Amino acid sequence: MNVLIIGSGGREHAFAWKIAQSPICDNLYIASGNAGTARIGTNVAIKPTDFEKIGRFCRDSDIDLVLVGNEEPLVKGIVDYFKNDNSLKNIRIIGTDKQGAQLEGSKDFAKNFMNKNNILTAKSETFTKESIQKAKKYIDTLSLPVVLKADGLAAGKGVVIAHSKEEATKTLDEMLLDEKFGEASSKVVIEEFLDGIEVSIFVLTDGKDYVLLPEAKDYKQIGEGNTGLNTGGMGAVSPVPFVTEEFIKNAEENIVKPTLKGLQDENIDYCGFIFIGLMVVKDKAYVLEYNVRMGDPETEVVLPRIASDFLVLLDATSKKELGKHTIKVSKKAATTIMLVSGGYPESYQTGKVIKGHGSLPKNVIAFHAGTIDDDSRTLTNGGRVMALTALADTAQEALAASNHAAELVTFEGKYYRKDIGKDLF
Ligand code: AMP
Ligand code: GLY
Repeated sequence: MNVLIIGSGGREHAFAWKIAQSPICDNLYIASGNAGTARIGTNVAIKPTDFEKIGRFCRDSDIDLVLVGNEEPLVKGIVDYFKNDNSLKNIRIIGTDKQGAQLEGSKDFAKNFMNKNNILTAKSETFTKESIQKAKKYIDTLSLPVVLKADGLAAGKGVVIAHSKEEATKTLDEMLLDEKFGEASSKVVIEEFLDGIEVSIFVLTDGKDYVLLPEAKDYKQIGEGNTGLNTGGMGAVSPVPFVTEEFIKNAEENIVKPTLKGLQDENIDYCGFIFIGLMVVKDKAYVLEYNVRMGDPETEVVLPRIASDFLVLLDATSKKELGKHTIKVSKKAATTIMLVSGGYPESYQTGKVIKGHGSLPKNVIAFHAGTIDDDSRTLTNGGRVMALTALADTAQEALAASNHAAELVTFEGKYYRKDIGKDLF
């Protein structure tokens, strides 16, 4: 099979790494990829939202399967573009159409969907510029802190946890009146704050059947002890100790199955990943959010634990034959630590020479995120630079290996969190 992966982060490097191990993979391309994916497949310089160029590349290179890594092309309708073009409609694509992508692309849609399908989630209401006075009254009815969410995609910056009524009102004004996130904040979801522990579960579905991938927990904030600004993710671990077989069984019955049934009821032909962010409060799992893709850096710990041929599973998903398959998961623990450029998630420099990543211990995989080749050197090319994943018998061993690797890889301005997993193990 000829496969095209869309995206250029650590998640896409992990996908490429896993898919390249499959005996049924012939040619592997990544658009646009990074220095890590370039060592496994062929990078093609096409932007994920340039559907016309992606389509042309797929025709010219005989692509059988497209795997969409990031949400933006899905929310903008890449699947619809392929389905509506006679020359592309037979190319199989892992990803949902525009309608299904609203699960991530509109928080208001997602909340309505959960409420309609009796899926436990924080109490909330949605407001617009016109109903801003009602929104302020609603804030008064909630206890502090209060959570405000821009409806649309806001590059991970659209959720604010306000610790005072003043902060909540100011945030509301910024989002609705000053259009802080443009169209994405023309609606704001205001919801109650849930105090618990977060964990994410991942579903691969062909619309009828599904397999559950290993769960993971990520660390979103830049500072140790979960302080400071939110990032795309600074590290992740899998498995998560409090996630028992019973927890998973309950999540399947109360969340996964109702979600898939809800999608069918809306006539959404969903083919791809559903990343479900949960908050566990007193043994009850609330859904915080849906994403229509895998997580980054969660993928960098989830895929190394999958023992099955991942391309076989993707192939079956795209043919609606997932019901014939099961997934094998390794009992080993995987951890990853993200090296980032100094200053991230605010402004940072790129073009710094990376050293040490070529000679890491055997149980460590360096998944590149923001990297680029420059002759024989590898340079930093983004905020998140490299995810150092270790696989070991215990989480403690894996964490020690990820931390050791994080010391060995160097570049000017390197920063990483040294406390990944410490709250759990
Ligand atoms: P979301 O994009 O909706 O998952 O929100 C981003 C992050 O904000 C989550 O991963 C949580 O850490 C936090 N968050 C979102 N909603 C809530 C909530 N209702 N209560 C507490 N924390 C929340
Ligand atoms: N690591 C969080 C995300 O991918 O959304």
